[in-house]
Amino acid sequence: MQILDSIADAVGNTPMIRLSRINRESQHTLLAKCEFMNPGGSVKDRIAFYMVEQAKKEGRLKPGQLIVEATGGNTGIGLALAAKLKGHKLITVMTEKVGKEKVHMMQVLGAETLVVPGGKLIDDPDHFINQGRRIAKEQNAWYVDQFENHHNLDAHYKFTGPEIWKQTDGTVDVLVAGIGTGGTLCGAGKYLKEQKPSIKLVLADPVGSMLSDWQKGTEPHPAPYLVEGIGGDFIAGNFNMEMIDHSIQVSDQCSIETAHQLLDKEAIFGGSSSGCVLAAAMQFCEQMKDSALTVVAVLPDTGRLYMDTIFDQAWLASRLKT
Ligand SMILES: Cc1ncc(COP(=O)(O)O)c(C=O)c1O
Repeated sequence: MQILDSIADAVGNTPMIRLSRINRESQHTLLAKCEFMNPGGSVKDRIAFYMVEQAKKEGRLKPGQLIVEATGGNTGIGLALAAKLKGHKLITVMTEKVGKEKVHMMQVLGAETLVVPGGKLIDDPDHFINQGRRIAKEQNAWYVDQFENHHNLDAHYKFTGPEIWKQTDGTVDVLVAGIGTGGTLCGAGKYLKEQKPSIKLVLADPVGSMLSDWQKGTEPHPAPYLVEGIGGDFIAGNFNMEMIDHSIQVSDQCSIETAHQLLDKEAIFGGSSSGCVLAAAMQFCEQMKDSALTVVAVLPDTGRLYMDTIFDQAWLASRLKT
């Protein structure tokens, strides 16, 4: 039996599962990297614990100092756990788009939450990221800055990438993920491309986000969308667009239906971005007829954070066509 020293040691080393029930008639091997199995229910636990640890080591986070972060929800949940473990208070700033369950979860885990209006441009002082920065300055706090903090990328370069390489025994050909900050796809992708330069990185992007249009050089059509945590209207410092080989846009309807299929066929309970990533991975597989590939789809967070949204019949009926 292996005994861990703290919950921090339970972050990462997530399972890789063969999706042979949902991916029946394909010549490709489709695998799910199950990031929803991290302690806080998402991939963001990795960067939250790692960024706190590194900031303490580098002396940028002082003992007992307040932590502030702008979040799509999951980083806030991971940071709430890391902050509690290390004896810090946490304020998270997010837009109204973040699901109520994520906000509630952060509060239960001890964070103070501030929900601000969305729809602001990145250079607007009221953009939630700028509000987070301002609050941190005013309160002499450490501002985490997952969008620019290179320890976000490093966490995936040091851990997620090597785990995928080892779990697939080096057979991985394609990595599919969404982009919020770019940490997962660019950090893990950098490690994987160093091992095997032919590996392709595929961006799964919600319709309405501008990232895939920028990557393809096509005209963006920004619009609100329901999928949480990925896509956007600005390029974070941690997103190196040049590394991306291919991008696929997925509608809300398709993302949500795919999350339901993942549950029905594989008994895997992921959130809306898991549906988006899996739908993109399956579309990619369909397009690649010439050879048999091993495709890894990163499933970022748990369906438990979407019980009042994409897994609620009334919510679905009010938002999606049937
Ligand atoms: C639900 C969800 N999926 C995916 C991601 C994307 O991860 P990354 O920030 O590493 O690009 C995020 C991050 O914001 C997220 O909250």
